[in-house]
This record gives sequence, structure tokens and C-alpha cells, in this order.
Amino acid sequence: MNPEINWHVRFTQQAGWTASLRKHLYAKANLSQASAILEVGCGTGAVLADLPTFTSAHIHALDLDHSRLQEACQHAPFAQFVNGNALALPYPPHIFDVTFCHFLLLWVRDPVQVLSEMSRVTRTGGSVLVMAEPDYSHRIDQPQGLARLGGLQTQALQEQGADPAIGLKLPALLDQADIKLMETGILKNLKAEALSPADWELEWSVLESDLAGRLPASEIASLKEFDIQSRKQGERSLFVPTHFAWGRV
Ligand SMILES: C[S@@+](CC[C@H](N)C(=O)[O-])C[C@H]1O[C@@H](n2cnc3c(N)ncnc32)[C@H](O)[C@@H]1O
Repeated sequence: MNPEINWHVRFTQQAGWTASLRKHLYAKANLSQASAILEVGCGTGAVLADLPTFTSAHIHALDLDHSRLQEACQHAPFAQFVNGNALALPYPPHIFDVTFCHFLLLWVRDPVQVLSEMSRVTRTGGSVLVMAEPDYSHRIDQPQGLARLGGLQTQALQEQGADPAIGLKLPALLDQADIKLMETGILKNLKAEALSPADWELEWSVLESDLAGRLPASEIASLKEFDIQSRKQGERSLFVPTHFAWGRV
């Protein structure tokens, strides 16, 4: 991941897009009644930050990346952090009422193992929430001249070790991890044409970082210009299906 991008700003932007979905999932999982909850792959704490408005539970969070955790301590000082691996969670069985993740599974080598670990540390009857995982294999760009952006970004993600189509697979992954699927669906996406100028710039910084080395800088600049012009004409749309699923242990 490009160190020049402010990842906390990016993660906060993504958390903004899933805010109402998260509220729905927290209600389904009875978060307000929970006494201990865990976010796996918490990053800089963008999703943790508003949790105290939903629950008085003890909030635990884990990430592989030590520097991300240091940032998360600033944004969610109420949480208890562990530097650890989602593939082998360093917690005893059945201690959390709810475990959840947000834009994590696409990055892990073995998502079924991560879900099995989340299930193991969740009490019987508790909930596992997979709150947002993208499916770039069904990304739709309009106008057609921008369609190659999707293919190139998907390739870039694959080369970074991610599974760009993970969102599509969530029900099957929960099933393989022996988690009883309660609900699954696709997040209502923000229309790309409705992005604020700052959000659009951030979207393009991620895109430029993903496309660097894949396309000459001049070609990236002309795609960006084409995007600007399409937006002005009201012809730009972008849809990346982002899936969620939750289940009971
Ligand atoms: C895209 S970020 C999402 C962060 C946060 N959940 C959010 O949505 O703001 C994915 C995070 O997962 C972490 N991660 C990736 N693989 C992991 C693993 N095997 N164990 C723990 N954390 C992992 C990364 O370090 C990164 O912070």
C-alpha cells in the first residue's frame, strides 16, 4: 500500500460509506447488549471510532500492522489493542459476543481460516459480522472509455495479494467456516458522480497509486481528464458491488 496516501483519511471515507449498513448490522447483532466485542483487522481505527455510541461493551481490536495500531490508539483510545494475526487469533474460545471485520478478508491468504478463528472466539449464539468486502470483478464504469480502469485496478489488487472478487464469495466462505448465514447483501453504493471534490481526489490518489507502472503517466493523466469531463457532462458512473454477510455461531 502506497505510504504517500493518508490511509486513515481513506479508511474514514470508506467507513462513511458503510455507516448506515453498520448501524443495521450492530442492531441485528444486539451490540447494545454485548459485553465484549472484537474488530479483526482494525487498521487505523476508522470503524472503531463511533462504537461507543452503539455499545458500552469492552471493545477489543487486532491488526497485523504495528504502525496502524499506533494510529488506532489515537482514534479509539477506549479500545484494547493487540498486534496479532487474524489467521491465529490470540484469544481464548467463546469470549466475545460479537466479532466483526470491515475490508479485511480481501487481504488475507485464507479467509475461511480467519472466519473460523472469528467463530472460535465468539460465544455460542453470538454473531460474526463481515461488514464490507468488494467485488471488483463486477465493477461497472461509464462511459466505456473508462472501463479499462476497472480491469487495471483489479490486476493491481491481485498483484498486491488481494482477492478482488471476495465479496461475491461471502455466503460460501461463512458456510465453510461453519457460521450460520443470517443475512447477506450488497451495500447501496454512493454514486461516483455524487462524490465530493475531496472524495474524488482521494479516489484518484488510490487509483493513481494502483495504476503507476501499469500505464504511462501521460495515459493516467488523460484518463483522469476524461473522468473530469465525463463528470461535467453528467455521463460518469461507477459501481463496485460491496457485499456484506453476517451469521450466528
Ligand atoms: C483495508 S484495511 C481496513 C482497516 C479497517 N478495518 C477499516 O475498515 O478501516 C485492512 C487491515 O487489515 C489488516 N490485516 C491484513 N491482514 C491481516 C491479518 N492476517 N491479520 C490481522 N490484520 C490483517 C491490515 O494491516 C489493514 O490494517
